[in-house]
Amino acid sequence: MKRVSAVVMAAGLGKRMHSKKAKVLHQVAGRPMVWYVVSLAQQVADSTVVVLGHQSDEVRSILEQRETGFRPINIVLQTKQLGTGDAVKQARAALRKRGNPVMNHCLILNGDTPLLTKQTVCDLLQRHEAEKAVVTLLTTELDNPQGYGRVVRGEGQQVLKIVEDSDASTKERALREVNVGTYVVERKFLFSSLDQLEPKNAQGEYYLTDMIEIAVARRLRVSVVKESNVTECLGINTREQLAVVEQVMRQRIRGKWLFEGVTMYDPATTVIDEGVVIGRDTVLYPHVSLEGETKIGEDCVIRSHSRLKDCVLGEGVVIEDCCVLDGAVVEDWASVGPFARLRPGAVLRKGAKVGNFVELKNAELGQGSKANHLTYLGDAQIGQMVNIGAGTITCNYDGFRKEKTVIEDGVFIGSDTQLIAPVSIGKGAVVAAGSTITRDVPADALALSRPEQVNRIGGASRRQALHAHQSRAELKKKSSPKHEKKSGTLKKAT
Ligand code: UD1
Ligand code: CA
Repeated sequence: MKRVSAVVMAAGLGKRMHSKKAKVLHQVAGRPMVWYVVSLAQQVADSTVVVLGHQSDEVRSILEQRETGFRPINIVLQTKQLGTGDAVKQARAALRKRGNPVMNHCLILNGDTPLLTKQTVCDLLQRHEAEKAVVTLLTTELDNPQGYGRVVRGEGQQVLKIVEDSDASTKERALREVNVGTYVVERKFLFSSLDQLEPKNAQGEYYLTDMIEIAVARRLRVSVVKESNVTECLGINTREQLAVVEQVMRQRIRGKWLFEGVTMYDPATTVIDEGVVIGRDTVLYPHVSLEGETKIGEDCVIRSHSRLKDCVLGEGVVIEDCCVLDGAVVEDWASVGPFARLRPGAVLRKGAKVGNFVELKNAELGQGSKANHLTYLGDAQIGQMVNIGAGTITCNYDGFRKEKTVIEDGVFIGSDTQLIAPVSIGKGAVVAAGSTITRDVPADALALSRPEQVNRIGGASRRQALHAHQSRAELKKKSSPKHEKKSGTLKKAT
């Protein structure tokens, strides 16, 4: 297959999105839509130029993140969005940049068609090469072609030109074959035709699509691949189209993981982002969301209404219903929930257990340790086989600073304990229920910090008798003549 350079057009604002955010930054399955197009470009082309304009710094920082695994990208700026023809023009110098292999052909991609697949683009490149064309164009047939450029063919079915929706005659508007916005073009022809463009159209823009008519006028070969998979070709101009593409992408991702051996009881309600990885024989219950760069091992069970973002789960982990996990690490055979929240920096070592209404932040719970009920563990280092009683709170914040709590192996923390950080509890120590711990507890000590209990014999019935006496006195007071007169006046007033 021919070696090509790719040019991705991503400078526009996307007025039809009615958004403050540049269109290509809008997310599809958890990643900005431009990420998919650049990723595709990287898979098929030797070098990639991306044309940016609106919010270019933000787009650039996303594309240059090391985690993307992208090879170096040439970013060029289009300061005024004068149309797709003008956008590609900005790539001219970058395509000839020293150090880059100079390719004679360019693959041009719209930044707003994230569903396009490698296979389709490879077919396009192959057709371009086989037919020795100067331009090869990807088209598809849509039931509702509104908004797309129409492909106008001559009597012999040869392509004559592309007419944009806003410039089309009624007859042209009825055409259902549309331009997808994906082209392979011979480089010299490309830039010579771009020099010839004029913004004489309804939008006053330089249309890249006019290069087709220019090629036809110069009697150069224009070739076409008509794609039968319509959804792949969908461009995003509006929120409605974004919603459609989102659904298609989500279904594609679910299909991949179902194929790889993940069970989903209700795929339609299972949300999986592009960056997620799931091990074999993991079971996802209805309404589970796996977001960001979450990695899940084999044989895990994730029950309904749980949301995991940027988490790492080992093997055999169980996440019960209604849990929220963000930036947490949960090692093999550990379990969480129901109704638990693990915030960034939460680490559950092997076999650890976090139960209902427990919150962890920047806290490690050691191997086999348990925090089963109603607990907050923040900025804490907890060893192995520790039992954290119901209602334990690490008081990590004094209004000014965050402090650390250390709990060593084998400690037993009784229910309703407050650990005022910084504080540490030595190995094997026991903290009695209801304690407020303000000083370090040595290893093997029993710490107890609560007032001593007093039992008053017969006190309960004495208390009851006192209450009865007080009630009688109240009643008497209310029924006195003075009181009646007062309430009478009140009645009149109302
Ligand atoms: C474009 C095509 C149309 C095709 C459709 C497919 C042209 C003139 N029209 O129309 O034939 O059917 O795509 O989806 O090319 N962009 C820039 N700079 C600009 C203008 C646009 O970088 O000055 C970028 C946008 O960010 C976007 C892409 O080019 O990623 C396409 O622009 P858009 O305005 O969406 O073009 P369409 O009207 O959809
Ligand atoms: Ca578009």
